Amino acid sequence: MDLLITGATLSDGRKDIDLAARDGHWVAVGQGVAARLQAERALRPDTQIIDAAGQLLSPPFVDAHFHMDATLSLGLPRLNESGTLLEGIALWGELKPHLTQEALIERALRYCDWAVGKGLLAIRSHVDTCDPRLLAVEALLEVKRRVAPYLDLQLVAFPQDGVLRYQPARDRPDCRDTAFDLLKKALDMGVDVVGGIPHFERTMADGAASVRLLCEEAARRGLRVDMHCDETDDPMSRHIETLAFETQRLGLQGRVNGSHLTSMHSMDNYYVSKLLPLMLEAGVSAVANPLINITIQGRHDSYPKRRGMTRVPEMLAQGIPVAFGHDCVMDPWYSLGSADMLEVAQMGLHVAQMTGQQAMRQCFAAVTEQPARILGLQGYGLKVGDRADAVLLQARDPVEALRLRANRLQVVRAGRVISHSAPAQACLQLPGRPASVDWRA
Ligand code: FE2
Repeated sequence: MDLLITGATLSDGRKDIDLAARDGHWVAVGQGVAARLQAERALRPDTQIIDAAGQLLSPPFVDAHFHMDATLSLGLPRLNESGTLLEGIALWGELKPHLTQEALIERALRYCDWAVGKGLLAIRSHVDTCDPRLLAVEALLEVKRRVAPYLDLQLVAFPQDGVLRYQPARDRPDCRDTAFDLLKKALDMGVDVVGGIPHFERTMADGAASVRLLCEEAARRGLRVDMHCDETDDPMSRHIETLAFETQRLGLQGRVNGSHLTSMHSMDNYYVSKLLPLMLEAGVSAVANPLINITIQGRHDSYPKRRGMTRVPEMLAQGIPVAFGHDCVMDPWYSLGSADMLEVAQMGLHVAQMTGQQAMRQCFAAVTEQPARILGLQGYGLKVGDRADAVLLQARDPVEALRLRANRLQVVRAGRVISHSAPAQACLQLPGRPASVDWRA
C-alpha cells in the first residue's frame, strides 16, 4: 500500500472507515481495513498513514463553471465600477488586446495552486474563442497539460461576444474567419466542450439559431455542450427551452448543461412547470453560480430586488442534476473569491434558502458529486477502483464543513498527499476557560 487513511467519516454518514490506496487507486475501503492489512503484512515501512480521527473525508471539490482565462486579472486595465455583467464584458474586451500568453499561463497556474490548497481538483473552465489569435485557447491548453498530474482541467469553447454576433474582422481586418470558424478551430486544437451565449446574440431568433448551430457541431464531434444560457433577469429569455429541444432532437441526453439560467428566477410559475419536465426528459443539467448571480442579477431593480439565482431546489426535486460553480475569482466581473467551493456552496444554500438538513447535504453534493457527474469525470469517488483522490476536512460532516468553510487538512491525488494545512484553531488566554477553540460542535 502507498497510503492508508484510518477512521474517516464519509459524506453519506458511514463512520470509522479506512481507505487504502495502491498505484493511484483505492484498493480497500471499509471498517476494519487497517487491521486486516496489518495482519496480512500489506503495509510497507514507507506506507503513508493518516489518522482521520473521525473527520470528514470527501472526494475532491469540483467546479463545474469557471473562467480561468480571466482569473486574477482584477484591476486590469481598470476596475468594474457598476459591477454589472455588461460592464464586465466590456472591460474584458478592453483587456483582451493586452493579454500575453505568458501572463495568462502564469495567472492560471497560480489559480490552480490556490485550488489545490482548497481541495479543488477538477475545474470546467470556459475559454474565450472570440479572438482571431485564439491566445487564451493556446494558453489554457498549455495549462491543462501542465496541471494534468494534479488537477483535471476541462475546457469549454466559449464565444463570449456571441457566435453569430461577433465579427472577427473588427479586431483584425484581414481575418477571414467567422466567430464559428474560430470556435471550431479551438475544438480542433483540443478544447473539450462546446459553449455558447444565446442571450447575448442580437435577437431571440439569433439566440435560438446559435443553440441549434452549436448543438449540431457538438453532435457531429461527439462532444459535450455547456452554454451560458439566459444569464439575465428577463423572464422572456427562454433559450433553455431551445437547448432542451435540441438536446433531445440530436440525441445528446446526459451531455448538455445550461449554465446560470437566471431568467428562470423571474419566469412565470406556470411556464416553469412545463419547462422543468422538458429539461428532465432531455437529460439537461444545470449549473448555478451563486456568488456571481447574487451580485450581478437584479441590477435594474429598485426594491424589492430579485436574487436572480435559478430555481435550484425545484430542479433538484424534479430530478435534474444541479451543481454550483464559482464562475469568477478576482476578474472583471467579481473582485473576491479564493477557489473555495465551500464558500460557493454556502452562498448557494443561503440564496436558495436550502436550510434543511437534507437540503444542506444537497448543497455539499452540488460542489462534489453533482459537478463530477456533469463533467463526466471517470473514477471519481471513494469506492474500490476509483482514483485515490480525496480531501480531509476539519469537520465531522458535510453540514459542519459548510458552516465552518472547513479547513482542508490533507489533499490527496492518486494516492499521494499534494497539500496539507495545519488545523485551524485559536489559542485562548482566558482564566477558567479552555486553552483553545476550533469551532467544531
Ligand atoms: Fe460564466
